[in-house]
Amino acid sequence: MKQFVRNVKIVGTGSYLPEMVYTNSYLASMVETNAEWIEETLGIKERHIASCEEATSDLAYQAGLQALTLAKLDKTKIDLIIVATSTPDRMAPSTACFVQHKLQAYNAVAFDISAVCSGFLYGMSVASQYIASGVYDYVMVIGADTFSKITDWKRRDCVFFGDGAGAAILSHCDDNEGFLACRLYSDGRGRNHFTVPAGGSERPATCETVENGMHFFQMNGREVYNVATTVLPKAINQVLEDTNFQISDIDFLIPHQPSIGILKKTAEIIGLPFEKVMVSMDRYANTSGGTIPIMLDEVNRTGKLKPGLKILFAAVGAGWTYGASIMKWA
Ligand SMILES: CC(C)(COP(=O)(O)OP(=O)(O)OC[C@H]1O[C@@H](n2cnc3c(N)ncnc32)[C@H](O)[C@@H]1OP(=O)(O)O)[C@@H](O)C(=O)NCCC(=O)NCCS
Repeated sequence: MKQFVRNVKIVGTGSYLPEMVYTNSYLASMVETNAEWIEETLGIKERHIASCEEATSDLAYQAGLQALTLAKLDKTKIDLIIVATSTPDRMAPSTACFVQHKLQAYNAVAFDISAVCSGFLYGMSVASQYIASGVYDYVMVIGADTFSKITDWKRRDCVFFGDGAGAAILSHCDDNEGFLACRLYSDGRGRNHFTVPAGGSERPATCETVENGMHFFQMNGREVYNVATTVLPKAINQVLEDTNFQISDIDFLIPHQPSIGILKKTAEIIGLPFEKVMVSMDRYANTSGGTIPIMLDEVNRTGKLKPGLKILFAAVGAGWTYGASIMKWA
């Protein structure tokens, strides 16, 4: 199935993690949790946390700047900036406009995408449509989140998330390389299983909502686990079918990083040896929109991504939102 008029590849990556680190033992000194449980069950040892002065756009800006440097591209060349975030700087305007201003990339159109942990995958798909159709040549996609700002630090579910941002610059390439397939899915029946109940138009912030902690995220962990381990294999198997690849053709899976249990179960279902699954949650936890581009940047900078290698991306997030894509590195 030919999906694109022009094929699309990644020409530069970047990432940024804030300086401050919270270890599991530090969290165990604050709330009723257990450092060993966090490491064994979730696969997390520590996470980076933004300072009071750092907003999501500050992290996103740093990641974007690094991607420009690696791509050897001037900021004026960027046609579009997409920021995938569910922790925007403000309700309005978009975080992408803050990033555009910080980068001084004033030739770019800028907007946000809201798909929580699948946001970067959604962003790459949208970017690909613009490049494939010839509308834009260079699109910067950033996944950035600061879940520390919507975490109740008195509750034990503060262990899951960290803050961070990653960026990729997409451009066009030859046929038969770059993105070969992408599938996105949404299922609003899952909208209440991971949510921030107040602060939006449905329930504007009041003294009462703040007192009741309704501006913090709420998660049904069991439902997240069950859904993630069902829909990730479904999306992955679909893009394998789209490309006529076998799972044995895949060199790396660069997945969203929800918990080590979810990744191990997914790898087992799809039949992928776990050495091919790229993992960073031990150091960064779940940075939501940031997980895939941070991991991608790390793999890219260590020189593992050789032309021709087949990379699988897969994500699942609140909504539900989920999807997968396959690219031949170019
Ligand atoms: C979080 C998760 C491990 C909880 O397991 P569960 O079986 O669904 O839920 P339970 O509340 O029964 O907890 C199971 C055990 O874990 C312990 N536990 C749960 N959360 C804990 C925490 N934050 N700290 C320490 N222990 C915790 C419980 O005390 C319980 O222990 P017990 O068996 O000794 O009683 C599991 O649901 C999961 O991995 N979900 C995915 C969550 C995720 O990836 N979220 C991020 C992406 S949005």
